[in-house]
Formats: sequence, structure tokens, C-alpha cells
Amino acid sequence: MNPPPNSVTVAAATPYEVRVEPALDLAAAVSETLTPGVAAVLTDSTVGPLHARTVVAGLEAAGWRVADEITVPAGEASKSLKVYENVVRGMARAGVPRGGTLFALGGGVVGDLGGFVASSYMRGIDLVQLPTSLLAMVDSSVGGKVGLDLPEGKNLVGAFLQPRLVAADLDWLATLPPRQISCGLAEVVKMGLLAGGGFYADLENLLGAARDGEAEALRALIVHSVRYKASVVERDERESGERAVLNYGHTIAHGLEAAAGYDLLLLPHGEAVAAGMLAAARLSRDKLGCDLLEAHEHLLRAAGLPPKGPAVDTGAVLAAMGRDKKRKPSDREGEYPFVLLKGAGEPVRDVPVTAAEARLAIEAVLEP
Ligand SMILES: NC(=O)c1ccc[n+]([C@@H]2O[C@H](COP(=O)([O-])OP(=O)(O)OC[C@H]3O[C@@H](n4cnc5c(N)ncnc54)[C@H](O)[C@@H]3O)[C@@H](O)[C@H]2O)c1
Ligand SMILES: [Zn+2]
Repeated sequence: MNPPPNSVTVAAATPYEVRVEPALDLAAAVSETLTPGVAAVLTDSTVGPLHARTVVAGLEAAGWRVADEITVPAGEASKSLKVYENVVRGMARAGVPRGGTLFALGGGVVGDLGGFVASSYMRGIDLVQLPTSLLAMVDSSVGGKVGLDLPEGKNLVGAFLQPRLVAADLDWLATLPPRQISCGLAEVVKMGLLAGGGFYADLENLLGAARDGEAEALRALIVHSVRYKASVVERDERESGERAVLNYGHTIAHGLEAAAGYDLLLLPHGEAVAAGMLAAARLSRDKLGCDLLEAHEHLLRAAGLPPKGPAVDTGAVLAAMGRDKKRKPSDREGEYPFVLLKGAGEPVRDVPVTAAEARLAIEAVLEP
């Protein structure tokens, strides 16, 4: 199979390009899409000191005036109304105009926060995603979902805003901790299982090298993932149906995260997704006769993910699954709609799973 190219065009209402390359020439990439103007650069306290200088220099070289550089504390807590308020008020004081562009340089937190700022500041300004974590490159920067958390729950305030451009420099990943690389690879494995075909085959060939930071393997897996996510999102931009397949492994993952008290050191999202997929693979085997459990175990091991989740209380996991905001009023009490697999590339949505079936599958993937 030919290696996938450096860029993917997402055919949203206004199409945009996702560029993925080593030693990205940001000035050139941005100039191809946007006329230089006034920029605000949003980043976090970990990524900023590592990568903001070169980004600002690249923008200035391309003729942009960077009116505001905003650094928020690294971590999920920055997806809050308080931090949002600080960011938009800072932009107003710095005089970022209606025609300005927000560049979100960071992981999914900065992308979601920055996207929500761009969707609402002066009723909406242009957004460019500069994803620096593997998760952001393969998942959160594509698809247009942006938003904040509330004390009442994650991602409860948000909007749909497609970026004008997504540009990822593979060299940024060199500073990302290995556990975060593995967590990004969990989403890659998810999308490869859902996509099937050449992407699924490439998982086997490329995961090990990607985990070791080899640029070509990372690039190929990122482009596969973006292309797959884009294809799903294009068919269902506002998440009315098919996009739900992207939730594979996530029904149980969200329950596990809640039961672990959203402690990202105990259970980062990617590790929750890995455990959730292992449980979904068992359910797929038992309910749909799909024989991919060993393949899941093998691929997740190659990605450096632990074979079991932490010993959280299964009852708490099920209770949290019952409160999931993706539940529909029509979903029956004590029954959960799952995305399962009939085979690689053959996801099935809305398979009803009883609490007893879910409990067994969850217990099988947790430390005793
Ligand atoms: N919008 C969507 O469609 C979508 C999809 C999936 C996830 N998300 C959201 O994404 C967020 C998770 O994203 P994440 O895992 O990137 O978290 P994150 O943004 O918190 O990044 C993880 C950590 O890695 C650091 N980091 C990022 N890039 C780095 C680099 N190149 N070098 C060194 N450190 C780096 C960050 O500072 C942070 O400490 C969650 O809030 C989740 O809800 C959104
Ligand atoms: Zn996820």
C-alpha cells in the first residue's frame, strides 16, 4: 500500500485541510489558507515554554501581528468557565478584533477551550488548531466539537466550530511523555478497528514504531485516523447518528473514569478507552460472534497500554454509565446501547447490553 499523503481535506460545510508533517513550515502552511491579520495564540503552561516561540515567530514571518499570547494552566481544569472568562477578557483588552484568528497550540484541552473561545468571542472568529498531543492530532482537533466542562459534568457547554486549518508538526510529539503517546494510540487503535482495511492492517505493522516515536509510522497512523474520523464526521457533522460509532470503547471508559474520580494519574482517558475496548471486544464475541479479543489484546499491548484497568467499584461504573449524557430517553432502564464489532471495519450501533452482561465484561478487564 502507498504511504498516505501529508494532508487530508475534511469536506465540512466549509472544507479545511489537516496537515501532518515533520518540521512543519507553519508560515507556509498558514499562508496557503489564510490572509495574514491579527492573531491570538492560546497555549498551556507545559506546551507554551516548549513550542510557542517558534509558532509566534512563524506567524510573524508570514505577516501576522500577534496581539495576544495567552497561557492557561496545563490540565483539564482549564476547560472551565472561569478560565474561559479570563481568556476572552484578556483578548478584549488586547484588542483582538472581529476579523482576528485564534491559534490553539496544545492538546485537546487547549483545542476545546480555544475552539469555544473562537466560537463565541465577538460572535465567532476564525480558529486554527495546532494540536501538540497525539490525542489532539488524531481526534480532538478534527470534527468541530469544542467546549468546556462544568462542575456538573464534562463537556456540558459547547458548540460546533470547524477550524479553518489544522496543522500538526510531528516534531512536537518528541516532548510528549510516553504514557501520553500510548493514550493517543488507544484512539488510533479504536479508529483502525472501526475502519478495517488498510488502516487495520497498518496497526499491526506500525504501532510499535509509532510508540518508539518514529516519525513515518506516526505520520501514517495519524493520517489514517484523521481520514477515518473525517469520513465519519462528514457524513454526520452534527452528531445525529453515525458519528456514534466513534464512541467504541467509550461507554465503559466513561463509567470507569467516573468511578476513578476523574483522577488522570490513576486512569488517563486513553487507558480507560483501552479497558473499555477490551470489554467491548468480549461483548462483541459473546453477542455477535466476533473473534477479535486477542487482536485487541495484542494491539493495545503493542501501543504500550496496560492489559487491565484499576480496581474500581463495578457498581459505580454501571451507575455512571446510566447517567451518561449520550443516553437517550428511549434507552431502557438497566440496559445500555453499545457500539460493538461484528468484525474489523464492521461496527454495529445501539446493541442493547444488559447490566449483568456489562458487569461481567467490566470485571474481566479490571485488576482484581
Ligand atoms: N473535541 C473533541 O472532539 C474531543 C475528542 C477527544 C477528546 N477531547 C478532549 O481532549 C482533552 C484531552 O486531550 P489531551 O489528552 O491532549 O489532554 P491535554 O490537552 O491536557 O494534554 C495532555 C498533557 O500533555 C501536555 N502536552 C500536550 N502536548 C505536549 C507536547 N507536545 N509536549 C509536552 N507536553 C504536551 C499538556 O500540557 C497536558 O499536560 C479532554 O478535555 C477531552 O474532553 C475532545
Ligand atoms: Zn476518547
